[in-house]
Amino acid sequence: MFNASDYDALLQRLEQFFVETSQKKAITSGLAPEELQAQINLALPEQGESLEQLQQAIDAYLQYSVKTAHPAYFNQLWGGFDPTCFMGDMLTSAANTSMYTHEVAPVATLIEKTLIAKMGELVGFSHPEGQFTTGGSNGNLMALAIARHRACPDLRKTGMAQAPRLIALVSAESHYSFSKAAHLLGLGTDNLWKVPADATGRMRVDALEGLIAAAKAQGAHPFFIAGTAGTTVRGAYDPFEAIAAIAQREKLWFHIDGAWGASVLLSPKHRHLMQGSELADSVVWDAHKMMGMTLMCSVLLVKQRGMMLNTFSTEDTGYIFHESEADPIDLGPSTMHCGRRVDAVKLWLTWKHLGDRGWAQRIEHYFELAAHAEAMIREHPNLALVTPRYSLNICFQYVPEKNEDSLAQRNLLTLNIRQALLDSGKVMVNYAQVEDKTIFRLVLCNNQSTKAEVTDFLAEIIALGNSLSRSD
Ligand SMILES: Cc1ncc(COP(=O)(O)O)c(C=O)c1O
Repeated sequence: MFNASDYDALLQRLEQFFVETSQKKAITSGLAPEELQAQINLALPEQGESLEQLQQAIDAYLQYSVKTAHPAYFNQLWGGFDPTCFMGDMLTSAANTSMYTHEVAPVATLIEKTLIAKMGELVGFSHPEGQFTTGGSNGNLMALAIARHRACPDLRKTGMAQAPRLIALVSAESHYSFSKAAHLLGLGTDNLWKVPADATGRMRVDALEGLIAAAKAQGAHPFFIAGTAGTTVRGAYDPFEAIAAIAQREKLWFHIDGAWGASVLLSPKHRHLMQGSELADSVVWDAHKMMGMTLMCSVLLVKQRGMMLNTFSTEDTGYIFHESEADPIDLGPSTMHCGRRVDAVKLWLTWKHLGDRGWAQRIEHYFELAAHAEAMIREHPNLALVTPRYSLNICFQYVPEKNEDSLAQRNLLTLNIRQALLDSGKVMVNYAQVEDKTIFRLVLCNNQSTKAEVTDFLAEIIALGNSLSRSD
């Protein structure tokens, strides 16, 4: 049995890790898998190891992990560090349980329901139901399953062989999880139709109308449309009100994938980006992205109560669910999961600590950082935005002084600058493709970052760009 001083030693080691991270030690070791393997004793021994030996494993894990709470970690749609979330995570592990029944998770069930009500209210749903899920991808999968069940309830029994040709529509800039979901649900990726986006990355409503008409003309049955709140690369928000009007007229399930961007609902200043969210049938919202919770912390919210239970309840569950079938307090029957980790407690504890006001300040701080980065990029002759900024994603390129460089050279320069940044360990930023351009996708959602890191980051890009383009 470990005692408190053993845990204390670990906590002190973790504190040291956080301090080193905030002192801007290298973000990543950049070691190749073989090199890393040579540094760490990965073998699982026959004879168990002592706590002292485990200490070495812990040290190695921390040393070679990417420092995602580093203030210049801009690589993903998540990052930073939240002490109350960390405490909530420990609490979750200490009182280890599963979210499926009230019987084994009495407090966590009530906490999860409290958060669903609060987040649903922010979306604009008056009596929402919902569940924490294991991520936005699975939330999108579940939304598609609910929509299919509403369209063709018999399919749960008969399978897709008996189905009409069902068409789901998503934006061309939507997340790849919809393709996986179409595959896994047996709809087929050929029946996931991608609605073209305009030049700024928003779904084209005229094209949506055209595709629905085309599907019907082929005798197919369009049943689902997803808009995105904060697209993965450009951070764009689709025109939800216009999409909702079409969905209503055509009797389509209207889902919003707000995995990245629904968190703007927390800011009175920026929530207008979600205008029309109350018209959706379902919304996915990842709290592990813009809200900075540890992974995973994701919610699927559904406007009409009962839809989740109708879709996911099944037979042969009497061994575990002893509640009445009609309106069970147990969350398990209304989800695709059986055992599920408690992801709500860390969010609940953090929300209690920050309050609504604290969240608003946090989101507004990110928007200020993003506006600062955008202004610097617009002002500097060697930097160019490649698409308008909607939210916290800033997509840009370095433009060499001798501007006659071809697009192919500029694209290569993005990759070379990024590699040099990774090698330096000072900054971690990702790249992506916007049309034919390879761009830096700067994402500002790290609560450790300030304007200073953003300024230094752009200065570093310019310096590296100058030196790498001269050495061509
Ligand atoms: C718009 C969007 N939807 C869904 C996802 C998937 O979320 P998760 O990683 O929580 O499965 C992402 C991930 O980046 C995303 O950007």
